[in-house]
Amino acid sequence: MNKTVRDILRSKGPEVFSIDAEATVFEALEMMADKNVGALLVTKNGKCAGMFSERDYARRVILRGLSSPKTKIAEVMTDTICFARPDQTVEECMALITEKRCRHLPVFDGDSLVGMVSIGDLVKASIAEKEFMINQLENYIRHG
Ligand SMILES: NC(=O)c1ccc[n+]([C@@H]2O[C@H](COP(=O)([O-])OP(=O)(O)OC[C@H]3O[C@@H](n4cnc5c(N)ncnc54)[C@H](O)[C@@H]3O)[C@@H](O)[C@H]2O)c1
Repeated sequence: MNKTVRDILRSKGPEVFSIDAEATVFEALEMMADKNVGALLVTKNGKCAGMFSERDYARRVILRGLSSPKTKIAEVMTDTICFARPDQTVEECMALITEKRCRHLPVFDGDSLVGMVSIGDLVKASIAEKEFMINQLENYIRHG
């Protein structure tokens, strides 16, 4: 049983919290707090343009001494997007986030944005998968 991104989105849902690149960092922080998430997809003219994460805030805003209400997201976002496809496995995505050092993956089915998975979603799915495997093996050992 190889869990996929589609399985995660089935239980988590397709909602993606996003913000326009012209919005301020302060507005992004407000949205992240309100939705209780650590990253937002950034859009420009309605199209995906990047990601803005707590890490971007720490390194590109605070450490540079920038003012959150005066700085636009466009100036401090990460403009390369690591993304996943619905049929990719949890293991594949964990390898991807480890290699790229990102914690959130927008999910695209063709050109359509269909959801967002985070490191927490992937870890949770991976643990559930391994627990299932352990139960199967225990049953096999007990009952042959
Ligand atoms: N129990 C659970 O189901 C569960 C799932 C994920 C994370 N967590 C816990 O939450 C904490 C933080 O999680 P994290 O580091 O994965 O990041 P996070 O706080 O950004 O993510 C928390 C949840 O919000 C979702 N999310 C984040 N940004 C989103 C966005 N822009 N649009 C739509 N959904 C978005 C994620 O997919 C995840 O389900 C960790 O302690 C983790 O263990 C628990």
